[in-house]
Amino acid sequence: MADRSYTSWVIHCRNSLFCLFSVTSLLFILSWFFALRSAGRSRLVSLPSLRNQVLSNSNAGCPIQYPGRVGAEWGAEKKILKVFMYDLPPEFHFGLLHWKPEGSSVWPDIRKKVPSYPGGMKLQHSVEYWLTLDLLFSAYSGPSPSRVAMRVHNSSEADVIIVPFFSSLCFNLFARLRKQEGQSHDKVLQDKLVKYLEAQDEWKRSGGVDHVILAHHPNSLLYARNQLWPAIFILSDFGRYPPNIANVQKDIIAPYRHVVKSYVDDSSTFDSRPILLYFQALLVVHSIVAKSDWWSTSPGGSVRQELFYLLKDEKDVHFMFGSVQQDGINNATRGMHSSKFCLNIAGDTPSSNRLFDAIMSHCIPVIISDDIELPFEDIIDYSEFCIFVRNADAVKQHYLINLIRGIGKGEWTRMWKKLQEVEKFFEFRYPSRDNDAVQMIWWSVAHKVPAIKLKLHRAKRYARTSNDTVKKEPPAFVVPHNFW
Ligand SMILES: *[C@@H]1O[C@H](CO)[C@@H](O)[C@H](O)[C@H]1NC(C)=O
Ligand SMILES: *[C@@H]1O[C@H](CO)[C@@H](O)[C@H](O)[C@H]1NC(C)=O
Ligand SMILES: *[C@@H]1O[C@H](CO)[C@@H](O)[C@H](O)[C@H]1NC(C)=O
Repeated sequence: MADRSYTSWVIHCRNSLFCLFSVTSLLFILSWFFALRSAGRSRLVSLPSLRNQVLSNSNAGCPIQYPGRVGAEWGAEKKILKVFMYDLPPEFHFGLLHWKPEGSSVWPDIRKKVPSYPGGMKLQHSVEYWLTLDLLFSAYSGPSPSRVAMRVHNSSEADVIIVPFFSSLCFNLFARLRKQEGQSHDKVLQDKLVKYLEAQDEWKRSGGVDHVILAHHPNSLLYARNQLWPAIFILSDFGRYPPNIANVQKDIIAPYRHVVKSYVDDSSTFDSRPILLYFQALLVVHSIVAKSDWWSTSPGGSVRQELFYLLKDEKDVHFMFGSVQQDGINNATRGMHSSKFCLNIAGDTPSSNRLFDAIMSHCIPVIISDDIELPFEDIIDYSEFCIFVRNADAVKQHYLINLIRGIGKGEWTRMWKKLQEVEKFFEFRYPSRDNDAVQMIWWSVAHKVPAIKLKLHRAKRYARTSNDTVKKEPPAFVVPHNFW
């Protein structure tokens, strides 16, 4: 039927110029139709497989597994990230922990004794310590199946080169003397580090792009960061970095080491946690004046203050200002273990140690922030176990409290279970295992390897005809507004 009418239509318009034009147009339209259809189909084919992949990581039924195949993706033949570690003098690392070298090695013999890192609030930024220990330990564990990174002694064979400077500890120990002394030991060590690195063949070879530098405390590496910026930084957030020095493409966000105690064998329930919403500010305060200053004037202070007035009369909401002394940490532990929700107000930097304390306490984090940085967010879907609220919404009358009261037992329990699945990702351990924070950070470094290779290969294009190393666009250094 269709055929016949088509034929008669052809006969009807034969000999006319119009006919030629129509047929050409028709063919043109048909060809577009087929082209679009085939493009559409290929999209349909690839979608389900992508969706399966996402589901397999976040399937509510089974625990989240950091898939081994993610490691395989960045280089099928090498399962282990090979890391070369500079033998920096001990004053840059374990020397800061009062360890003294015996014999010629700059590293402690961890089979005998592992130097300990100071406790309290300094522990928050101890990622430098855990990663270094893990590499030292890899010499004894060998390439076991659970190992993500391994130390190699030939830098030509390494995927990345790590600079084992305990910059956060160094800041915590020495930087406060800055004002009195003119030049702190923190700055002296940073200057020394820059000189050391610039003299190394490894640095000259790559311009630093395959180097990994630890600077977890937002104020650590304050001076050297402007010279060492081609490297990958391991940070807590980007708040005090101009985007051309550190950014999410190049660098890695690592979790804070929690300071409250983990909640082992948590058998609590929605009803057994009496406090609805808990906010604990653990402060490093040196005087009452500094504390009240921080409370009202630091960025984030205004949100904190407004929330305090909005929530202070709610009887099951707990605002608490502890100090860093041990009873403060113990109080915080007790408080978070007996609360349903824990408030996280971004402080003067867009990250928060309290988030990780809340996760370890299985207290659903309520994050008040417009731009918080979260570790491993390519793997972890934080919306499954955190409540995110923008600053502007949080300070609306009754908004936050109604939102939280609206979350029932069922939803809370789902999120509480999820917290227990993900908490291992934020636990720093020695020896590392089971996708803990140490291994997750190595995975994140491994994910940067293709980008490093790309930069290095591009830089070699003109190696025969000119001798430039990696092209350095000058970092126009802009001081961020919250830089202090
Ligand atoms: C380091 O590795 C490179 C490449 O595999 C090799 O050519 C070189 O000989 C090695 N150097 C040493 C000291 O083993
Ligand atoms: C800890 O809690 C107790 C009672 O709950 C309180 O008296 C004390 O001041 C708290 N300590 C700190 C440092 O917050
Ligand atoms: C690099 O190039 C400059 C000028 O083109 C030349 O003076 C210098 O000797 C070269 N260096 C090396 C190591 O080839």
